[in-house]
Amino acid sequence: MCGIVGFIGQANCNVQEVLIKGLEKLEYRGYDSAGIFISDQKGNAQLFKTQGPIAKLKEIVNFDSEASVGIGHTRWATHGAASTENAHPHQSNTRRFTLIHNGVIENYQELKVKYLPDIRLKSQTDTEVIVALIEKFVLEDNMQTKDAFKKTLSLIHGSYAFALMDIENPQVLYAAKSKSPLLIGIGDDFNVIASDAMATIEATNEYLEIEDGEIITLTRESVMLERLDGSIVKRDSYQAEIDHNDLDKGTYPYYMIKEIDEQPAVIRRNIQAYQNEAGEWDLDLPMLEAIRKSDRLYILACGTSYHAGLIGKVLFEELAGIATEVHLASEFAYHPPLLSEKPFFIFISQSGETADSRQALVKVKQLAYPTLTITNVKGSTLSRESDYTLLLNAGPEIAVASTKAYTAQITILAILANRIADNDKIDLGHELSISAHAIESVLSQKEKLQTWVQSSLKKSRNAFYIGRYVDYYVALEAALKLKEISYIQTEAFASGELKHGTIALIEEGTPVIAIMTDESTAANTRGNIEEVKARGALNMVISMKKLFKEQDDFVIEDVHALLTPLVTAVVGQLIAYFATLDRELDVDKPRNLAKSVTVE
Ligand code: G6P
Repeated sequence: MCGIVGFIGQANCNVQEVLIKGLEKLEYRGYDSAGIFISDQKGNAQLFKTQGPIAKLKEIVNFDSEASVGIGHTRWATHGAASTENAHPHQSNTRRFTLIHNGVIENYQELKVKYLPDIRLKSQTDTEVIVALIEKFVLEDNMQTKDAFKKTLSLIHGSYAFALMDIENPQVLYAAKSKSPLLIGIGDDFNVIASDAMATIEATNEYLEIEDGEIITLTRESVMLERLDGSIVKRDSYQAEIDHNDLDKGTYPYYMIKEIDEQPAVIRRNIQAYQNEAGEWDLDLPMLEAIRKSDRLYILACGTSYHAGLIGKVLFEELAGIATEVHLASEFAYHPPLLSEKPFFIFISQSGETADSRQALVKVKQLAYPTLTITNVKGSTLSRESDYTLLLNAGPEIAVASTKAYTAQITILAILANRIADNDKIDLGHELSISAHAIESVLSQKEKLQTWVQSSLKKSRNAFYIGRYVDYYVALEAALKLKEISYIQTEAFASGELKHGTIALIEEGTPVIAIMTDESTAANTRGNIEEVKARGALNMVISMKKLFKEQDDFVIEDVHALLTPLVTAVVGQLIAYFATLDRELDVDKPRNLAKSVTVE
């Protein structure tokens, strides 16, 4: 979703390059247009924006003065089509003010009608209304820029991360946030702002969090944070722990395949991260106590994280004996179910910024229930706003389709579930190590999967995944992976349900991929496979060594029954990857999708 970068420094710091590199680092969030606005110290400034990729933006940027300040933006269309006119930055009528925005202003039409009846806007965006409003307050009400910005913020309903430039004062950059991510980066004789530290980590690794409702004034030498009421905020900076190498594809053709390959290492890293020197699991005791005191766990998440939550339910119920419900955050936020007496809430979010999950967290906090966030991003909004955090330690995940974050989520859920039981129920360190080995074995058989994909999915317009119990939950995730990047319409069904309707869709050659690791239902799933085969389906059976039968196509090593999702999911990820390669599509950046969805 929209990405923001801003820089203010010396005249010779090549601002356009910093901004463009920063935007490239934010590409993973998903976007359809991009733009930058740069100025030298005298206010000679220029705006460049275009629909399409950053590579296209690069071609049109041509600034012959020495820029010292600038703002850059990648836009994921919400209000208005993906076009150059709607691309950010947006400017006020006189072009004095230039603004970039991530979020959604819910009352922009009301603001336009009330305050700007005579202004003709050039775009269909909510953002242009905001920059026009700032200019109105400055020109018509004689307000100082910062005051006009504050007044505008006070009128807004919705979510935003803004960066604002006033070309009459190019020594200052303004910013503000509410419900959308934004950070300040502190440099030596320069300062930056960014949606994600990844964008500017090459320039600095010292960052400052911004809280909702704060307004920021940046010069190249100073950073001022204040609240809308004018009170000054003091906050310590922190060092962002991002390894530059993690942001590079290295010799891999795509981030997705690099991230798939990293999964065994991430599992091992988490065993280390959550064990003490004596090899004992080491989790925050007050958090464990709070969970043990609860009578029901509620897992809230979206997309792939929701699918990890479904596995979490099985882990909590089987390992810890606590009843667990899993809900889509977007549904829960506005229509929560009847809750138990002592609920405990677990939010799962790779980015820690998903607006739907955050909205659900707001709701839960209003009810004053305890909360834990499981996330990959330290200091992210969900992490900051929850009582407890468990980190995924997966390293940055750049490909839009989540892979290593998903298996890391399952790993952390298993560690937590096992710890909640009075005594660890299983030797989890050992079982996770076996799973990491089993993933390595899958990764060493990529060619086999690629061959199957080439022969079975090349021309398919649709496909099905089936499975029971944990295999069904993995099937949901594997189907999402396949459809989101290859655009093959893929649905997952509990094997037993197929005959209750969906079997009508099976024709000669329809690909049906069965995941079968659950021992107690394997025979039933085999029956279901025969039913679709009899109707012409092209089956692929993924089974586990101890359930293996001659006709099975892909066999994973034996792992603990509750941890098979860690391994079968990787098979699904590789199927999706190879199907997408076959279709010559961009594996890492599927159309219409955003990695970090910061609007509801
Ligand atoms: C987006 C991404 C998905 C992701 C979902 C939830 O839709 O494209 O890959 O699973 O958001 O994201 P989160 O960061 O909360 O896990």
